[in-house]
Amino acid sequence: MAARTKSAVKAKAITPLTKRKAWKALGIHYKKIAKVHLRKLFGDDPKRGERLTLEAAGIFLDYSKHRINDQTIKLLLQLADESRLRERIDAMFSGEKINITEKRAVLHVALRAPKGSSIVVDGENVVPGVHAVLDKMASFCDRVRSGAWKGHTGKRIRNIINIGIGGSDLGPVMAYEALKQYSERALTFRFVSNVDGTDFAEAVRDVDPAETLWIVSSKTFTTLETMTNAHTARDWTLKGLGGDEKSIAKHFVAVSTNAAEVTKFGIDTANMFEFWDWVGGRYSMDSAIGLSTMLAIGPDNFRAMLSGFHQMDEHFRTAPFQQNLPVLMGLLSIWYGDFFGAQTSGVFPYEQYLKRFPAYLQQLTMESNGKHVTLDGTHVNCQTGAIYWGEPGTNGQHSFYQLIHQGTELIPCDFIAFAQALNPVGRHHDMLLANVFAQAEALAFGKTPEQVKKEGTPDWLVPHRVFEGNRPSNTIIMDKLTPEALGKLVALYEHSVFTQGTIWHIDSFDQWGVELGKVLAQRIIPEIESATEPKLAHDSSTNSLIRRYRKLRKISS
Ligand code: F6P
Repeated sequence: MAARTKSAVKAKAITPLTKRKAWKALGIHYKKIAKVHLRKLFGDDPKRGERLTLEAAGIFLDYSKHRINDQTIKLLLQLADESRLRERIDAMFSGEKINITEKRAVLHVALRAPKGSSIVVDGENVVPGVHAVLDKMASFCDRVRSGAWKGHTGKRIRNIINIGIGGSDLGPVMAYEALKQYSERALTFRFVSNVDGTDFAEAVRDVDPAETLWIVSSKTFTTLETMTNAHTARDWTLKGLGGDEKSIAKHFVAVSTNAAEVTKFGIDTANMFEFWDWVGGRYSMDSAIGLSTMLAIGPDNFRAMLSGFHQMDEHFRTAPFQQNLPVLMGLLSIWYGDFFGAQTSGVFPYEQYLKRFPAYLQQLTMESNGKHVTLDGTHVNCQTGAIYWGEPGTNGQHSFYQLIHQGTELIPCDFIAFAQALNPVGRHHDMLLANVFAQAEALAFGKTPEQVKKEGTPDWLVPHRVFEGNRPSNTIIMDKLTPEALGKLVALYEHSVFTQGTIWHIDSFDQWGVELGKVLAQRIIPEIESATEPKLAHDSSTNSLIRRYRKLRKISS
């Protein structure tokens, strides 16, 4: 990796997206291919299912069930070139401040860079600092897991509760659930994120404060939800341990970039695990924000996960675009969103342990690419980030798949499956995999009226039983869900998101869209809590909702 430093950069001028040659050519090409059915594409090319596949870093991608031909791929790759994707990848990996609205480098890739490599930000190689924190985390985790770290009363820690929200929660929860099979089952892990008191109450209802360790995870250490929950946890701990302030040191650790606020809260910075402003919240599960993950699966497994991330980083950084998994997946998303007008994208892991993966991806994709202006501040003239959603298979099949098969929306789907079961029980895994293959097949090829009639279906029922098909999907297959595999999978999506953001020429690393609601809530809180009737100056709807709530609410003691 090149070691060079760049100060905050203004976006380099680039031909607006819709004026790029490849974009225009894709528009013309779309008109030709939009009506072509996957039945025909497969009929014309018997080897299509083998040809349109890609395998790299232990991930196999079948992208044959997409409404594309070789020309589509050629034009999408040309679009990547005209969008200067290569240059942008190099800029990210070399520590340029590509998050221009926050004047920050974007270096989650440094979090998994091997010891000895160099990535320079503001004149400093950040990699040694990354490994110093990893070592500190490992030694802490070893002490907690072995029982050497004792609570205030001398009892060992049995419960670990992470407080955080957004990127300081979704990655840790997802990774904990995904890697439960590798976790220390003698420890109980909980995650409190919502400012709704129920989240806190349910997390603590059956645990002993003397055996509970709190991880307060917040990049800024100012987030309303996290700080509210952290203070409640502090009170709960003190109440449970006789009010001794000294107990905090044994029961609270922090993960943050903000040492001053951590100290203010009362956590010794010796018990703080640092990360940096060049790690975006939604890109932080492999930083110290993953402390709960490391406590659960142990330092060796955590390092294996980092190695998985790094392998995908290297693939993304070095592979030619036509053989580059994240690039291809990102370009295909552009194809559906911007040319077919698909507004959503379904992600369906056929792996129960990945049940929180769609929720995790929602922040990664939608907070990154839900943007309406380009890097130059002009309004985009195309559709940007799709809505990501999903549930694990096979559950979703008995719920919303009806709409994907026969509804009027085009929903490109990602099916994710693993060849090896983590819990081999009878025939379950074969059935699981049969279902994932069947869904992708049914979506692509459907069932014609002729086929339906042939089955003896009465004429009036035929239209109801027809599957139009031509619904596109990716099928991703990996060997087994391991920490390393999880790292690869997450990095695959991270870089696909980056690819899309680069084509749209947007800042995928800021999140100004979450600010306004936060500011307004801060204004409304004192209005709700005011002992006397406050003067309200909102719109008439907000005013009357506040008044109604004030009238109806019960004051908690
Ligand atoms: O409100 C959005 C956000 O800023 C996310 O980007 C971030 O992951 C989350 O809040 C939590 O922020 P913090 O880690 O600073 O508490």
